[in-house]
Amino acid sequence: MRIAALVPFLSVSAFAAPAESDAHHDKRQAYGVTSKYCSTASGGLCYLQYYVSQTAPTYRVALPSDAAQNSAYDVVLQVIAPNSLTWAGFAWGGSMIQNPLTVVWPNGNSGQATTSSRWANSRSQPTVYSGATLKSLSSSRNGTHWSVEVVCTGCSKWNNKGLNVNGPTTFSWAFSTTAVQNPGNSAGNFPVHTSSGVFSQPLDYGKNAKTLFTNYINKKG
Ligand code: HEM
Ligand SMILES: *[C@@H]1O[C@H](CO)[C@@H](O)[C@H](O)[C@H]1NC(C)=O
Repeated sequence: MRIAALVPFLSVSAFAAPAESDAHHDKRQAYGVTSKYCSTASGGLCYLQYYVSQTAPTYRVALPSDAAQNSAYDVVLQVIAPNSLTWAGFAWGGSMIQNPLTVVWPNGNSGQATTSSRWANSRSQPTVYSGATLKSLSSSRNGTHWSVEVVCTGCSKWNNKGLNVNGPTTFSWAFSTTAVQNPGNSAGNFPVHTSSGVFSQPLDYGKNAKTLFTNYINKKG
């Protein structure tokens, strides 16, 4: 029911049409546009970006170009969310259950954020997942948006699965508009999502020369 859940919440006119070059690779992807986003503020680091609308988070993923299938490498996740959203989550294996979840939320109005590594075996409150660790690179908040950028160690592979570095990989996402009760507690409970969805795209847009990537994650945070 993810489409039904999304439609009343998002302004339909805000949906961007998929770019022709970005054929969706997963039939479950109902909305959004994937693109390559390179940031001068990030020293030229490039990300695979997923954008749905002004009322949903934008997600950006970066990784080193030498990432090997089902191996351990760090990945960068950037989340930019409108201030109406109380938390945003990213599921590295494309579903709520049985894959690393990276969940982030603002902690107050001054730009602080809480980052939390989670795992769910059922579609209920995900528990803290120590198989992946998060290092916050930056977080900010202004009059319209909050944003968080993390490095995840442990999100590239889990069990006998991992990101697909050789073809389309499917991610999923979720967010809520209900307040997080104890936003300073990274192990605390948070409310169920108001919307969720998936997107699928080869990781190429987010691949970066190893040195550039390593310098970026070491320089910040
Ligand atoms: C309090 C925490 C949470 C609760 C109670 C919860 C509950 C649920 C339930 C009941 C569904 C099935 C609803 C349906 O299919 O219509 C669902 C689906 C889903 N949830 Fe959650 N969820 C929580 C947190 C999260 C988080 C943190 C993420 C991602 C980071 C997430 C991602 C998804 C996705 C992508 C789906 C679609 C179906 C799937 O892939 O499993 N959820 N959730
Ligand atoms: C507010 O923050 C967002 C996310 O970082 C950014 O895209 C936007 O340009 C900022 N707005 C202003 C007015 O600075």
